[in-house]
Amino acid sequence: MKNIRNFCIIAHIDHGKSTLADRMLDLTQTVTAREAQAQLLDNMDLERERGITIKSHAIQMDYVLNGNPYKFNLIDTPGHVDFSYEVSRSIAACEGALLIVDATQGIQAQTISNLYLALEHDLEIIPILNKIDLPSSNPEEVGDQIIDLIGCEREDILLASAKTGEGVDKILEAIVDRIPAPDGDDDAPLQALIFDSVFNSFRGIEAIFRVKNGTIKKGDRVKFMNTGKEYDADEIGTLKLTKFPQKEIKSGDVGYIISGIKEAKEVKVGDTITTKANPASSAIEGFEEVKPMVFAGIYPVDTEEFEELRASLEKLQLNDASLTFEAETSAALGFGFRCGFLGMLHMEIIQERLEREFNMTVITTVPNVSYYAYTKKDKEQRIIVNNPSDYPDPAILDRIEEPYIKAQIITKSDFVGAVMTLCIEKRGEIVGQTYLTSDRVELTFDMPLAEIVFDFYDRLKTISKGYASFDYHPVGYRQSDLVKVDILLNSEPIDALSALIHRGKSQDIGRKLCMKLRELIPRQQFVIAIQAAIGAKIVARETLSALRKDVTAKCYGGDISRKRKLLEKQKAGKKRMRQLGNVEIPQQAFLAVLKLN
Ligand code: GTP
Repeated sequence: MKNIRNFCIIAHIDHGKSTLADRMLDLTQTVTAREAQAQLLDNMDLERERGITIKSHAIQMDYVLNGNPYKFNLIDTPGHVDFSYEVSRSIAACEGALLIVDATQGIQAQTISNLYLALEHDLEIIPILNKIDLPSSNPEEVGDQIIDLIGCEREDILLASAKTGEGVDKILEAIVDRIPAPDGDDDAPLQALIFDSVFNSFRGIEAIFRVKNGTIKKGDRVKFMNTGKEYDADEIGTLKLTKFPQKEIKSGDVGYIISGIKEAKEVKVGDTITTKANPASSAIEGFEEVKPMVFAGIYPVDTEEFEELRASLEKLQLNDASLTFEAETSAALGFGFRCGFLGMLHMEIIQERLEREFNMTVITTVPNVSYYAYTKKDKEQRIIVNNPSDYPDPAILDRIEEPYIKAQIITKSDFVGAVMTLCIEKRGEIVGQTYLTSDRVELTFDMPLAEIVFDFYDRLKTISKGYASFDYHPVGYRQSDLVKVDILLNSEPIDALSALIHRGKSQDIGRKLCMKLRELIPRQQFVIAIQAAIGAKIVARETLSALRKDVTAKCYGGDISRKRKLLEKQKAGKKRMRQLGNVEIPQQAFLAVLKLN
């Protein structure tokens, strides 16, 4: 155990995490050139991601320093905020972290938020300035930022180029010297933390774990303490580029278990594995049930495909336990599903997978967060509202609460004013402003999560000319003043277009929505009135005039290829349209509220 080192790499996106991991695999000869080649070929079609580490959630390397052999377990952490609970569990499996900062870019939001997670778990931090081969790198100044941030000495900071390999040997030595060996008791009852899982359609779900105490043996009858389910440890082993089956895995080490589990739901990140014969008295702390944060309706474009959509969602859920769905009906769209996602990125991934892997053409409705409503009749009884149409009648409503986040934004001082204006417009409250250097500022806001869903990233990018990084964490619910904005087409309310909006902005958003819909809905043979209503009150109206000409008319019948192109374009545009009454609505219109600016 004293020769094991468990660590992760924390970095902002593109600062060089995968490149450094690959370089360490080369130096420790974990991957021979032939294996690397074969692996890449195997997975080419399935996963287009480059780099070996992305595909492996944990990878073991052998390393020798001064004649002593060491086992390194490099544990991968997901990079996006949508998956921050998983990051925190991966971090809990480590004793140390390599903090990589791109020496041309400096500290960014994800550097900081992941660093805080690592510090919460008392990890030993090894700061590394990467990309020092680039002429634009600025190790002096970025070094100052790191010193300010973690309070280390300048000589603690390692300089490296993951690209050329310079300095990577020193990183390997520092892992041995600075990161503590795991502690734990091989003879205690088994406690192994599940920090990741991998879907394998032939052998079932593989759970990846770190043994905190005890020893897991092949063939053990094991119990997952939070789900309460029992399995046989059919195969256990360690992970290099491929799986290496083992007879036992002792405390401090990392491994995988295969036990014929078919559904991702049964393997929960954060759960504790123990044995039936000698169970641990308690699970490892910090287990959380991951809850979806963003909800949206997903409907088949072709109403006949409802059952097929259900089957596809069920299959997706087998390997993505954080996806939730339940059948719902919309007066406008018919039968579909209300799906829950961890965040907007997760939602996009699921939609993409439905289309690419299952060949489904779907309409996604306006995403919304999950609200808590309380009625006057029972002021303590929480009603969860995941769909604007479940919003209680304002006449009986006592109060409504919405989820809040703590948002961290790092930007250049030039953009502080613009970022603040945006955040305040988004109902944010500034709670902190720290100058990391004279030129870089960290701003912290409390903000409603719903505002992030609505075009926040894009606006932030625009106003900061790309020089702002952003991260957030949920911080609970707060009371809010929301109203339901409904959209009517030719006086017919379209439930799938309703949204819950803060009262102060509702009229303005109603107006902008009507204008946007007028742009997005193609003209048809008749006039369409587009109205926004709050309760019974119409707050905005736009009129879409009737179509006059055939779209090909302007081609004068002359250029045949041009005409064909136009028709094809029209056909493609039709693919994701829904007929509502006699009005045809394209997919973009359902998401119009996300693109109001
Ligand atoms: P994600 O996997 O997208 O999260 O990014 P990452 O942090 O893993 O970064 P990645 O390793 O993909 O590197 C991002 C880019 O920087 C790639 O184009 C690398 O080739 C490049 N890069 C990484 N390290 C270095 C370095 O030391 N020097 C130079 N010049 N480029 C580097």
